[in-house]
Amino acid sequence: MNPTDKAAAAGTGTPPAAEWTPRIVAFFCNWCTYTAADLAGVSRLKYSPNVRVIRLMCSGRVDPQFILDALSKGADGVLIGGCHPGDCHYVEGNYKMLRRFRLLRRMLSDMGIEPERVRLEWISAAEGDKVKLVINEMSAQLSALGPLNLPGKAKGWDAELTAEREAVHA
Ligand code: FES
Repeated sequence: MNPTDKAAAAGTGTPPAAEWTPRIVAFFCNWCTYTAADLAGVSRLKYSPNVRVIRLMCSGRVDPQFILDALSKGADGVLIGGCHPGDCHYVEGNYKMLRRFRLLRRMLSDMGIEPERVRLEWISAAEGDKVKLVINEMSAQLSALGPLNLPGKAKGWDAELTAEREAVHA
């Protein structure tokens, strides 16, 4: 509890606002961003601890379903890190990711999900400072947006569909 919350709770008897921090799932390419995250750790660059990193051999391996699964299981945002254009070890995996990313953001936006919740960054193995910057920036952005609560939203969508189906068959 921060001092302001303590003071507010002590002064008014009102319980403090529940502490919430965004959950970020990060898919990092083994050859660049994952190594950069390692470098950030070794260099003791502090970044927000609320990120769970998943290592893949290339950003092109990130299936849009992975992103949807992460969001549907409670993540508030997803970060994808890949090699800079022209540097992909599998030639054009990162370009494939870029195309999927653009389509997915459009689809998420149609679903009422803020596009800022999914972010793609090119981060080379030497850019440990960029890992720190991007994660901290994304964490602050998601904190401002608030919880996504996709599992809760999905229940609402299911209820709407059920109501529509019942109305059709009534
Ligand atoms: S190998 Fe890094 S994005 Fe393809």
